[in-house]
Amino acid sequence: MARPYQPSLLRLLHGLVALVAAGCWISGLVVYSRFDGRWVRLPFTPPGDWVDVHGSIGVLLVLAAVPFVAYAFGPGRARLARAANAAVLAGLILAVASGLRMDEHAVRAGALQEPAYGMHVGIALLLSLAVLGHLGGVLARGGWPLARSMFSPGIRSGDRPSDWPAQLRRFAGRG
Ligand code: HEM
Repeated sequence: MARPYQPSLLRLLHGLVALVAAGCWISGLVVYSRFDGRWVRLPFTPPGDWVDVHGSIGVLLVLAAVPFVAYAFGPGRARLARAANAAVLAGLILAVASGLRMDEHAVRAGALQEPAYGMHVGIALLLSLAVLGHLGGVLARGGWPLARSMFSPGIRSGDRPSDWPAQLRRFAGRG
């Protein structure tokens, strides 16, 4: 079977989103443990202003998610026919949107009954499940070779960064 290959622009955008989302997840877990902890409490809270850290990484996620979502609905849209891909993308969009509605002062003040807070935590949980489903789907379909193909650095000819404008023009020309 041919070795799976992912377009380099997709790998770049997807890699950034996956990396920054992991940062949001870890820092969010620390915030949850420190200020809420009703269901899960870490045995140790690292020092630092984690609400601020989480908010700052969240801003990076917005910046990474905008071009990624545009790519997913544009050149990558055929892959959204897979439910697991569509679910993880929907989870990402909802997690970012609900995060933008959060009031960091409310979390610091312990206002954990705020609907925006409950919604953001619930959506973050659903996104975590969607990522697991996405990973499970990838592994079930193509095993480690498919999973690795999203993070491998090799670039075929015709898929270098200098080819991206032409690739996007070809996609736009198809309508
Ligand atoms: C927050 C984390 C993640 C999000 C939001 C996400 C989202 C997506 C989306 C929307 C697609 C379809 C792309 C397109 O339309 O062209 C996709 C494809 C893919 N993702 Fe992820 N992903 C995440 C994490 C991961 C991780 C950790 C892996 C590790 C292996 C992975 C491996 C892949 C692979 C191999 C594909 C191509 C699958 C296919 O051909 O259908 N993803 N991802």
